[in-house]
Amino acid sequence: MHKTFNFSNNILNWFHIYHRKKLPWTKNKNIYKIWISEIMLQQTQVKVVIPYFKKFIQKFPNLKNLSKASLNEILYIWSGLGFYKRAKNIYKTVQIIKNKYNNKFPKEFNNLINLPGIGKSTAGAILSLTHNYCFPILDGNVKRILKRFYNYTLKNYKLEKKLWKKINCLIPIHNCAKFNQALMDLGSLICKIKNPICIECPLKTKCLFNKQNNILKINDLNHKKIKKIKKCWFILLKYKNFFYLEQQKQKIWKNLYYFPFFFKKKKAYKWIQKNTLKIKKIKKKKNFLHHFNYYSLLIHPILVLINIKKQIKKKKNIWFNISKPPIIGIPAPVKKIFLKFIKKDTKED
Ligand code: ADE
Repeated sequence: MHKTFNFSNNILNWFHIYHRKKLPWTKNKNIYKIWISEIMLQQTQVKVVIPYFKKFIQKFPNLKNLSKASLNEILYIWSGLGFYKRAKNIYKTVQIIKNKYNNKFPKEFNNLINLPGIGKSTAGAILSLTHNYCFPILDGNVKRILKRFYNYTLKNYKLEKKLWKKINCLIPIHNCAKFNQALMDLGSLICKIKNPICIECPLKTKCLFNKQNNILKINDLNHKKIKKIKKCWFILLKYKNFFYLEQQKQKIWKNLYYFPFFFKKKKAYKWIQKNTLKIKKIKKKKNFLHHFNYYSLLIHPILVLINIKKQIKKKKNIWFNISKPPIIGIPAPVKKIFLKFIKKDTKED
């Protein structure tokens, strides 16, 4: 019999043997857990998400528990995971479900895509992975596979349109959930951004990317990509066991609490002058990098120890007790400072 290439069957057969096992959101799965996992997985790798997902579900095992949580309680669990707008979207979604859907998670695609943080792909993921409904997922992994397989060179919305059209044709009527999960697993295990393992790919015989030996090209491109570095200064104002933090309105880490933060060194020192009475000790701590997708921050922490507090005019601020941390959201580099520098410093004082 003449064997024809079938994209979906090849993917499903590969998945049957090689799929990622034991993802925590697949254990006793329900729409609530799949929703939380899908929001966490937006722009974030599975291995990073797993510990946050476990902590989140332990604290908020179901929608009812979560509906009683404040935004700060959600941000507290989210601290360090990044893209904090997602946590706010979860909070807003819970309020909508409470008011509009009688505390039941909606199951209709058109209702889901109107919830904050849920687009076509996430709605498809929620409905297919929970109920095996036939909706495709088009996340970064799936896009990369299709772009490479068909060698699409279109850009922006034209590419987006083409990819949606294609994935809608490829998704099988049965086994939608497996097909979707298979593509995401294939994208992160085989068809990786850097160093794809084409030799082990179930699509290799018809993949244009593999045929044209493009691996050499991506490795070259990845080499050249250098992120822009922005310098900034954090003021670690310390009084006894307390650190001064502010809830910022800036886009970067919106709604989280962090140290007074400046892109200009001069402004940082001016702030110290204005907001302290008598300084016991001032010390530059070792700088470090914090990476975002498109740039990196080179953070210069300045530790300022004081004996007397001066009134600081800022609406939302807090004196953070490091031995009894309050339930608020803090970004990853602040968490890192608390863990690495401060504990050591407290012992030295
Ligand atoms: N990215 C988005 N959703 C995902 C999932 N369910 N598994 C792995 N990666 C994903």
